[in-house]
Amino acid sequence: MKSDNPTSRPGRLFLVGVGPGDPELMTYKAVRILGAAKVWAVPTARENGVSSALTIAEQMVPANGRTVLSLCFPMKKVFLGQETDGQLLTAWRRSADEVIHHLDRGEDVAFPTLGDATLYSTAFYLLAMIQEVRPEVEVTVVPGITAMAACAASQSSPLALGDDVLAVVPAAFEDDRLRNILATLDAVVLMKVHRRVDALIDLLEEMGLADSAVLTERSGLPGEQVYTDIREARGRALHYFSTMVIRKKKVQVRNGTATLAA
Ligand SMILES: C[S@@+](CC[C@H](N)C(=O)[O-])C[C@H]1O[C@@H](n2cnc3c(N)ncnc32)[C@H](O)[C@@H]1O
Repeated sequence: MKSDNPTSRPGRLFLVGVGPGDPELMTYKAVRILGAAKVWAVPTARENGVSSALTIAEQMVPANGRTVLSLCFPMKKVFLGQETDGQLLTAWRRSADEVIHHLDRGEDVAFPTLGDATLYSTAFYLLAMIQEVRPEVEVTVVPGITAMAACAASQSSPLALGDDVLAVVPAAFEDDRLRNILATLDAVVLMKVHRRVDALIDLLEEMGLADSAVLTERSGLPGEQVYTDIREARGRALHYFSTMVIRKKKVQVRNGTATLAA
């Protein structure tokens, strides 16, 4: 135990999903845990930048009176199994060290993260870095409402039903697999579409799927925009918080029987 720990127990780490934007989509558990933690470690994309997760959390739990650590994670692609960008590794290490400093003092640290912590969140890179040097730290992951759930809900549409197979694809990666996934699966969520939207519209048009897609930008946040005709998004500088949901089948109920029709 470190000598500057007044409590004699190490702090606990909480990775807390805060939902995609609408603060009412935070869970009671997220609110309770954020309310109890004296230290928040919040992710930002650039030094001194705004943290969307903090902005959402603060609408339910005041940040005043807490230590708020701003952890900068540059927006770089991570290819699992390949060497990680050096700048990113340095940022993760620096962030982990800041969090460990507080855990060693016996302080609980909460890391609010957009949507759900288990879906494409930096939270797990941070956790891996912390566990490398403090494997004994107690960790709790608090699930949150995902952006894709909010995007589907706003259209009163399911993501998947019956024997549907759903794929979730980070579309920022140019990848031959996407065409195959779109051709074979029933429903596809494309995340991180903002820089590739024109190419994606071309692909979906070519495959006859453009009319099965809905694009949502900044769901639940100021400036929310829903493109029920994705062609209208062509040429637009979309926000990073943009998600496309493609469903090939529509639900129909006829004579008391629910069916999925193409
Ligand atoms: C790093 S991932 C985070 C995903 C998040 N953990 C989740 O559970 O939804 C960022 C991507 O999530 C999607 N996203 C996050 N917030 C969104 C929002 N408010 N509206 C639409 N898409 C959003 C976008 O596809 C964005 O590129």
